[in-house]
Amino acid sequence: MTSSDGIPARSLPVSARAPGKCVLFGEHAVVHGCPELVVAIDLSTQVVLRAAPQLSLNADPNAAESNPYFRAALDGSWRGGPPIAVRSVTRIPRSAGLGSSAAFVCALGAALGAATGGVDRAGLAQRSFEVERGAQGVGSPGDTSASVAGGYVALNGGPGEPLWTVTAGERRWSVRRVEDPRWSWVVAYSGVPRSTADAVRAVAERLARPDGPALLAEFEEVARAGIASVGRGDRRETGELLRRNQELLRTVGVSHPRLEALLAAAEPLAEAAKITGAGAGGSIVALPRAGREGELVRTLARAGALPLPVRAEPLGAGLVEEPPAG
Ligand code: MEV
Repeated sequence: MTSSDGIPARSLPVSARAPGKCVLFGEHAVVHGCPELVVAIDLSTQVVLRAAPQLSLNADPNAAESNPYFRAALDGSWRGGPPIAVRSVTRIPRSAGLGSSAAFVCALGAALGAATGGVDRAGLAQRSFEVERGAQGVGSPGDTSASVAGGYVALNGGPGEPLWTVTAGERRWSVRRVEDPRWSWVVAYSGVPRSTADAVRAVAERLARPDGPALLAEFEEVARAGIASVGRGDRRETGELLRRNQELLRTVGVSHPRLEALLAAAEPLAEAAKITGAGAGGSIVALPRAGREGELVRTLARAGALPLPVRAEPLGAGLVEEPPAG
């Protein structure tokens, strides 16, 4: 399967999987139209849909009311359909800035899309963004597009193959493929959960101050250069740009003492490290120095984080051809 293949039609039971993500450049600024670089990571969520006497998510019959992502996904493509039991399992820590909600929404969207006649990838990316934004109320399509496409993707920039355009009213985000440099990364969850919506709103207020346009211009410059340097596999320049991006994230107020402690711990063993995703808690991402990945993982664990070595997951959202029994 490649990222240009669609999700084919299937009858129930149907199972699908979608990866989490890690933002390398341009989080927050992307909400305001700047470029972003996101990589789909090899930690994923899998869902299984079966015909059932009543609608449920992980055996909870109230989830369609209590879980905004589940509710928005059903509203988008299943209301009026027959009852289904949905099972969801994930290896992505929740509220950690690693795309657990996008992976759930994209896996569920792929499975529902298959059960309703199939969906192409551009359609799944648009639908998944609408579901995530419907549940969160704010945000860009970076997380959902990376989860649908797999690999490295750039929003609003880059010279790579155009994948699709995602829209919300007048807003448009172009999504392009970026060459995979085949690096491994270490993400580390601080254990401090955060709300993407709250962080996005706080940053929007910060960017409304007089220096906001200059900050956005710098976010843009760093992300454009970052997309180019990752695409040509330049670790040294990528490290410098990751550090500049981290400075900007501090300036817009999404750091946290736990994140600063993890960044300091990573420093001697990494080309660079930065907050990834919404910040104000959540995770950091580090590009390990050659041969130091294991030491970096142990150091971040000793510093109290949950470190996870990750690589790009090239496939993106897709069906799991043999749903587990039961
Ligand atoms: C979250 O992964 C990235 C943010 O820019 C929010 C978004 O783009 O939806 C903080």
